[in-house]
Amino acid sequence: MLGGKKILLGISGGIAAYKTTFLVRLFIKAGAQVKIVMTQSASSFVSPLTLSTLSKNPVLSDFVNEEDGSLSWNNHVELGLWADIMLVAPATANTLSKMANGVCDNLLLATYLSAKCQVYFAPAMDLDMYKHPSTKNSIEKLQSYGNVMIPAESGELASGLHGEGRMAEPENIIQFIEKDLAEGLPLSGKKVLITAGPTYEAIDPVRFLGNRSTGAMGFELAQKAADLGAEVVLVSGPTHLSISHSGIQLVQVTSAQEMYDACHKVYPNMDIAICAAAVADYRPKHVATEKIKKKEGEMHLELERNPDILLSLGEVKKHQFLVGFALETQNELENAKEKLQRKHLDAIVLNSLKDDGAGFGGTTNKITFIDKNLKIKTFGLKTKPEVASDIWDEIISRIHA
Ligand code: C5P
Repeated sequence: MLGGKKILLGISGGIAAYKTTFLVRLFIKAGAQVKIVMTQSASSFVSPLTLSTLSKNPVLSDFVNEEDGSLSWNNHVELGLWADIMLVAPATANTLSKMANGVCDNLLLATYLSAKCQVYFAPAMDLDMYKHPSTKNSIEKLQSYGNVMIPAESGELASGLHGEGRMAEPENIIQFIEKDLAEGLPLSGKKVLITAGPTYEAIDPVRFLGNRSTGAMGFELAQKAADLGAEVVLVSGPTHLSISHSGIQLVQVTSAQEMYDACHKVYPNMDIAICAAAVADYRPKHVATEKIKKKEGEMHLELERNPDILLSLGEVKKHQFLVGFALETQNELENAKEKLQRKHLDAIVLNSLKDDGAGFGGTTNKITFIDKNLKIKTFGLKTKPEVASDIWDEIISRIHA
C-alpha cells in the first residue's frame, strides 16, 4: 500500500519525537520515500542526523540554509506539492493549534499550508492537554479541513501520569494509514480469487505432463487487485514467480485436482474470481508409484479428463463475478462467446495466438474483453501489468454499475 508513496513527515517538539526514527524505518521498509521537516524544538528530542541517515534525505528545519557561506531557501511549496501523504507526528498541542489556525511561523507549518495531499496527524501530549477543550477544538477544526487524526493511545506518559495522550506506536501509525488508503480504493472490501500458472499432472514420481504457462498474467492480475485494495487468494500452479503483498495469500498447488480443491474451498466467500491458469485438460489415468523403466517399442499413456475448474465455478456461482480466459487460434470471437455462455461467466478475456506478442511466455499481451451482454472491447498490444489494469478497469466498471 505504501510502496512508492512519497511521505512528508512533519515532526514537532514532544518526547514522542524519538519514536519517529522507528517510523521512518518502517516507511522505508514498506517501499516509501520519506522527506522530513522538523521544528527547532523537535531537534532537541531526536537528532536530524539520525533522521536524515534513515530517510536518505536532508532533514529541514529552517526557511533558509547556510552552506559554504551562501544562503539557500527551503521551498515549502515544492515540498508540499511533492508529497502524496503528509504526516505530522508527533503533533503537539502547540502545533495542532497553529495548524488549525493557519499560523505559519516555522517551515513545518508553512509546508502544511502548502500541502495539497491527504494530511494525517498523530497527537502526542499529556492527558490533561489532550482532554482540554482547546485541543479538542483544534482537532475538530483540522478534521473539518479533511485532515485525518491517528488517535493517541493510552498508557504511561512522560510526566509519570497514566492515561490517553501517547502518540500511537509507529506500527499502529503505519497500519492506520495503510487501512485508510485501502478504504478509498475501488476493490476495498472485495475478496478476489485468481488462478495462475500451469498444472503438472504426474506420470510417475519423476515425470509429469505440463505446459509452458509462466503464470505472469495471473500474478499481474493478483498484484493489481491487491494494489486496488482487494484481499486476494492467488491459487498458482508451479512457477518461478514470487509475490509479496500483505493483501495476497498465495496457495501453491501442483495438479488440476489440487487447484480445483483449493478454489472450491474459498470460492463461496469470494466476490470476484478470475481463472487465468492454463489447466491441463487431461491427466494420466494411472500414476505409477515407481519410476517407469524404458522398454523396447512404443509406450502409450492413457489419459482421463481433469475437472474444468472454471466451468465448475460457473455452475455453483451465486453472487460472484466470474471471469475466464480464452486462448484461441481460430474463430476466436465465436469460440470465446460460446465459452462465456457455456461456463456461466460474467466476462471472458480473449487472447488470440494469431496476434504477435499475445499468449504464453512473453511480457506482452493483446486482449479482447467480452462481457455477458456480449459487449466487446478490443485493446492494443500492451505489457502484462497494463493488460491487468485494463482488465480490472473493465471489471470494476461492471461491479460498481
Ligand atoms: O475451455 P478452455 O480450456 O479453453 O477455457 C479456458 C478457461 O478455462 C481459462 O480461464 C482457464 O483458466 C479455465 N480452465 C479451468 N480448468 C480447466 C480448463 C480450463 O479453469 N480444466
